[in-house]
Amino acid sequence: MNKFARIIGTGSYLPPMVVTNDDLSKTIDTSDEWITSRTGIKERRRVTDESTCDLAVIAANNALDMAGIAPSELDLIILATTTPDKIFPATATMLQNAIGANCPAFDLQSVCAGFVFALTTAEQYIKTGAANKVLVVGSETLSRIVDWNDRATAILFGDGAGAVVLSGSEETGILHSKLFSDGSYLSSLQVNNTRINETGFIEMAGNEVFKIAVSRLSSLAQDTLTACNMTAEELDWMVPHQANIRIISAVAKRINTPMDKVIVTLDKHGNTSAASIPLALDIAVRDGRIQKGQSLLLEGIGGGFSWGSILAKF
Ligand code: UT7
Repeated sequence: MNKFARIIGTGSYLPPMVVTNDDLSKTIDTSDEWITSRTGIKERRRVTDESTCDLAVIAANNALDMAGIAPSELDLIILATTTPDKIFPATATMLQNAIGANCPAFDLQSVCAGFVFALTTAEQYIKTGAANKVLVVGSETLSRIVDWNDRATAILFGDGAGAVVLSGSEETGILHSKLFSDGSYLSSLQVNNTRINETGFIEMAGNEVFKIAVSRLSSLAQDTLTACNMTAEELDWMVPHQANIRIISAVAKRINTPMDKVIVTLDKHGNTSAASIPLALDIAVRDGRIQKGQSLLLEGIGGGFSWGSILAKF
């Protein structure tokens, strides 16, 4: 049995092709002004021929390098993705093969809450002693399921990957996590295919999702702090799912957290679903904002709806 699961390395990767708001406004009826003011997004990345696995491999290797862990030392790989490369096998097994690991590997599908669900699952493996070193990756090629003629969704989503390595530890790591799902919201946010092997696109009742996101995430953030006997002042960083700056700032305001304690990276990559939290985390770790020993509140919501939070010491 391990006392804690602790993050010992982070990594991320964005494919090189940049699509700016001005680029989008050449093909759909929108503008940089509208997208920036309504979402905070300035640009997103789009894959050309890279796969979800390709992005995951680079993010994973970066996290393993920071952790100082060889792939052969991993006990488990969990890949959170909404855009697996194939119906089967799991993209996680392709990742396992590509990085040269020889542990069990599985995909986890919980859309934008995928990383929080995957990290919580990994924590359970570590705390029971079933695993000691776990690679958790969020990787997405959402551009493959975006209808580029639909201005309600095309402006929001992007491609990318983020990863963490978790280790069993006596030192404080993840302190609390909580997950929720409510499947009654299927039609509010879904891919509109009718058969599993038929192409479908993301369709979303944006305004409804927005309101539910703010109310669920703010009460969850407050409950998470309460469960850890912490005040908002004691929190060092919020690392939220990067969907919309207005959702992020509304949640921060409701829990009395100033925006200078919130990691915001969506201007550079848009909503990358399961990749967005580990991407934001890695960017802020590598630029020196997030320091060892600081407290982090991770939270996200997405299709399902599924949502969840994690409070951890970094
Ligand atoms: O990852 C988790 C799941 N996703 C989210 O968290 C996203 C949640 N939703 C949102 O972020 C926001 O609802 C959106 C950014 C999608 C939309 O922002 P909004 O402030 O809720 O706008 P709206 O849908 O209420 O639309 C306002 C107006 C409408 O025009 P009218 O009816 O007022 O004339 C839309 O047709 O803005 C129009 N509009 C646009 N205009 C320019 C909608 N999309 C665009 C666009 N460019 N891209």
